[in-house]
Amino acid sequence: NNYALIMAGGVGSRFWPVSRTEYPKQFIDFFGVGKTLIQSTYDRFLKICPPENIFVVTNEIYTDIIKEQLPGLHENQILAEPIMRNTAPCISYGSMKIASLNPDATIVVAPSDHTITNQEAFIEAIGQSLKAASENDCLITLGIKPSRPDTGYGYIQYIENTLKTDNQIHKVKIFTEKPNLELAKSFIQSGDFLWNAGIFIWSARSINKAFSRHLPEMHEIFLQGGPVYNSENEKDFISDAYQQCTNISIDFGIMEKADNVYVLPADFGWSDLGTWASIYDIAEHDYVGNAVIPAEQVMMFNSSNCMVNVPKDKLVILQGLHDYIVVESNNTLLICPRSEEQTIKQVVADVKAKF
Ligand code: GDD
Ligand code: MG
Repeated sequence: NNYALIMAGGVGSRFWPVSRTEYPKQFIDFFGVGKTLIQSTYDRFLKICPPENIFVVTNEIYTDIIKEQLPGLHENQILAEPIMRNTAPCISYGSMKIASLNPDATIVVAPSDHTITNQEAFIEAIGQSLKAASENDCLITLGIKPSRPDTGYGYIQYIENTLKTDNQIHKVKIFTEKPNLELAKSFIQSGDFLWNAGIFIWSARSINKAFSRHLPEMHEIFLQGGPVYNSENEKDFISDAYQQCTNISIDFGIMEKADNVYVLPADFGWSDLGTWASIYDIAEHDYVGNAVIPAEQVMMFNSSNCMVNVPKDKLVILQGLHDYIVVESNNTLLICPRSEEQTIKQVVADVKAKF
């Protein structure tokens, strides 16, 4: 009864120009390992559920890339969204569709753009959570030990109480999505909070019930699709349904509000590749802290702590450059101090308005 729902509709604008709206980060092989992020995600789930139970939700402009990168998926396993409405509609749609195939389904919902270094620990944590989710009416998330007051994450505080069937899965007291910096700092200082990994485990019944309670209008929209899911009319239904959906994430829409949220503290070498800093952290460095991908034609003199990602055939020379991001893709070059990388998102918006 185990299913996976991979969310792959984001645009990853902080990695521009390597990640672009037409070809976002989940479809990129950032580390030169021969697999893109979504291919690695899919391969992990092959060890958790049968291939026919893996579904991918994405924007319709990416369905061709998905077919190319994940040829094992049947057409019916690719859920195409006509417009971007964030993760709540994407999960409601996916859960309803899976429930119509199997009302007893348990589902792991996961982003397509994370790296996980310890595959065994990941598979173990998911397996444990799927079992718990099949036995309890609960919404489980995985909690990661935080390392900095990052405002891009959800923060979780849990209490001692656990699920009856699993004493490692704790009841969540507070779930705060993307706090401001002040709040994030106080969370980190208290030492009491975990980051939400953005990987959720629940039964189709529990999540659909949570939608009916906390996002009833959205629930109603996707509920009406009951008879058409997995039929030829699904596409038309969905294009109407999305027009009526509000734009909201699962974190704000459900996780902050529900009272049956549980967390499994986990440690499997998780990284949300949110910015160049996270690539820099994982990539190999030379002895003065430069991370260069790929390294073939890049020459560095008196330069340190730079993050360089350029096409293989490009000869790049850096002299006296410290703490910079230098990235090129699609004939576009971006140079930015590492400390200012959060501004790339805004810069891209400005650039797009011009060109
Ligand atoms: N299909 C679809 N449609 N997928 C989407 C959409 C959409 O409209 N929007 C985002 N996604 C996908 C992204 O591609 C990504 O894989 C995943 O859903 C999560 O979306 P993000 O936009 O990356 O969320 P976030 O990183 O800001 O925050 C979430 O993840 C954090 C951990 O990485 C939250 O769950 C946080 O609480 C969490 O800490
Ligand atoms: Mg993310």
